[in-house]
Amino acid sequence: MTGGITRRQALVLGSVGVGAVVVGGAGFALTELLSSEQQAGPGLPDRAPAAGAAWQEPDVLTSRDGVLDLELSVAAADVALGDTTVRMLTYNGTVPGPTLHLRPGDRLRIRLVNGLDEPTNLHTHGLYVSAEGNGDNPFVSVAPGESFAYEIDLPGDHPSGVFWYHPHRHGVVADQLFAGLYGAIVVDEEDWSIHPPRVVVVSDVTVAGGAVAGVTGFERMLGRTGETLLANGRPAPVLRGPAGDAQRLLLINACASRYLDLRFGGLDAQVRGVDSARWAEPVSADRLVLAPGNRADVVVTMPDAATRLIAAEYDRGQGAGGMMGGMDAVSPEAAVLALEPGAAAPASAIAPATPNRLSDLGAVGVDATRTLTMSMGMGGGAGMRFLIDGRGFAPGRVDQSVRIGSVEEWTIVNDSPMDHPFHLHIWPMQVLRQGGQDVVGVDVRDVVDVPAGSAVTVRIAFDAFPGRTVYHCHILDHEDLGMMGVIEAS
Ligand code: C2O
Ligand code: CU
Ligand code: CU
Repeated sequence: MTGGITRRQALVLGSVGVGAVVVGGAGFALTELLSSEQQAGPGLPDRAPAAGAAWQEPDVLTSRDGVLDLELSVAAADVALGDTTVRMLTYNGTVPGPTLHLRPGDRLRIRLVNGLDEPTNLHTHGLYVSAEGNGDNPFVSVAPGESFAYEIDLPGDHPSGVFWYHPHRHGVVADQLFAGLYGAIVVDEEDWSIHPPRVVVVSDVTVAGGAVAGVTGFERMLGRTGETLLANGRPAPVLRGPAGDAQRLLLINACASRYLDLRFGGLDAQVRGVDSARWAEPVSADRLVLAPGNRADVVVTMPDAATRLIAAEYDRGQGAGGMMGGMDAVSPEAAVLALEPGAAAPASAIAPATPNRLSDLGAVGVDATRTLTMSMGMGGGAGMRFLIDGRGFAPGRVDQSVRIGSVEEWTIVNDSPMDHPFHLHIWPMQVLRQGGQDVVGVDVRDVVDVPAGSAVTVRIAFDAFPGRTVYHCHILDHEDLGMMGVIEAS
């Protein structure tokens, strides 16, 4: 871990560790407007939940005979966040919702029952499945009191990896997710009664008056950051195990906007893959940045002394076109979890990762190239408009038409002073260039950070699944404010 940097490690750090380009520009401060908006809030003394709760993981629902059939009931409930109780939105009463453990080739049947007083729907983030009909269809809207039967078929060669589910009803995605609607999906061939991993759903929340705080227009513009970081619905929970034991953590960044700049300092951490990519060799890492929506499969060795896994302070740049001098979107340092050597039973052996088929698209011919530009402009409800190619989201308009069987090279430009994590549904992206540098090796992910004022080049194999779906900024407030487009494959 302390040795020289390996090529794979350079790849991990190089492609995820690019810092924000801070665009200067003095302007009027927004402090006065901010404080008046804050005064309009509930004004109750609020107690954030205390760190150090016992370890807890979501319930696991495992497929049998090729099927996982479940009901997900979406409803408000009182949830224990560590030592305080908060009114949140839940799947089946818990935050996070249940973990769905699937195998390649499985059929996932979910009856989504909407107990909210506003529409919702469901997205299986990262799954390589059809987006049509009652598949992973982001255009579905389930009205209050209604239900919808999703039927999602994983192909037999579906990559193993960590995925997740969350609402995707345009306009309310950030509000619903921030209020507690998220859960893990894991696809692998493993028997968890022998090799159970540790699912770690990381999210953030701000508690106000016993409920999840609302946000100002300004916070939407920056992308909301919760005051308390949660792992499986608890602040900095403590995972115990014998020193020297290996623990396999399946980490999911389910925060609405916060980047997790994970620091493994003091821990032996081996990264086995990011998103749906599983690498032939694990990569020893000190640092791993997970943009909102990204996941990682990491094996850590239980230390001899208590150690915290930290998400370092992270600066996503400035909102409002740089005109609000000094108002950067910064998340402060926070502990994700603590690892403590203890007398708990030894963890079971960890099966070696099965590498996914990762054809290197860097070496193949490209059928088409296109450039997509993310930008921010004046106007709109929150004072700013969030655009891709100069347009806000319109569900009835097809922005990109691609041909099934083609490989395309996309350059995604960020023409704004804040970072935007670009997410494409269904088809994973292989990152070729980021921040002006070529990426070494095969780096595949479904959320790619595009730092402020820079560009990323990716290649995408549209090898299956005709139909319409979306791409968007995974700062979900930006997606709700219009930074989303429609892609149709045929
Ligand atoms: Cu995780 Cu379109 O979303
Ligand atoms: Cu998605
Ligand atoms: Cu964004």
